[in-house]
Amino acid sequence: MEHRDVVRRRRMVRRYRTDPVDPAALERIVAAAGRGPTAGNAGGISLVAVTSQETRTALAGLAGEAGWVARGYQPWLSAAPVHLVLCVEPATYRSRYAEPDKDPAALAIPWWWVDGGAALLLILQAAVDEGLAAGFLGAHAVAGVTDLLGIPKGVEVVGIITIGHPLPEAPASSARRGRRPFGEFVHREHWGR
Ligand SMILES: Cc1cc2nc3c(=O)[nH]c(=O)nc-3n(C[C@H](O)[C@H](O)[C@H](O)COP(=O)(O)O)c2cc1C
Repeated sequence: MEHRDVVRRRRMVRRYRTDPVDPAALERIVAAAGRGPTAGNAGGISLVAVTSQETRTALAGLAGEAGWVARGYQPWLSAAPVHLVLCVEPATYRSRYAEPDKDPAALAIPWWWVDGGAALLLILQAAVDEGLAAGFLGAHAVAGVTDLLGIPKGVEVVGIITIGHPLPEAPASSARRGRRPFGEFVHREHWGR
């Protein structure tokens, strides 16, 4: 698929068929995450790829899916055949930025979150390129994921990326806001003129 079509077609999908994702496609999607830029080439991004129904059901439980379903939403995490739990490790960046060619002051911006965002987008786009769809649930909404998956102390969970074959769905509340018009976020040459 042309890159511009991937960019145009991508949207967050929260409803999936339950059939599995082709393992070769999943490998390509996961590999795409490793092609992203990372600050100082620190590479402090990790993924936990979850396909087992038991663990996906447990993650859905931690995310409070039963509550959404009771409020009339469709199951999201429990139905999605793949969860990629996206993690970042701040210590990896601290140690890289302590090296002689780097300045620790540069970590005034916590670059690990930026790198996590870059990996997130690559995964979302790679899923579209495979004819699949993906969605993202921020880790703020999933307490207990580190214990469930044995994620070591010091590794921060960014969130859960769901991947699968999309089903039609009602637009989420955020999507109903519509996109900010192009002219409002692009400034030409100077912010205020
Ligand atoms: C950093 C980030 C965090 C997000 N967290 C959530 C989330 O926790 N739950 C959710 O349903 N959607 C989440 N989203 C999806 C946004 O709501 C969605 O990207 C936005 O409404 C635009 O829709 P689109 O991506 O389909 O174009 C998140 C997106 C980003 C980039």
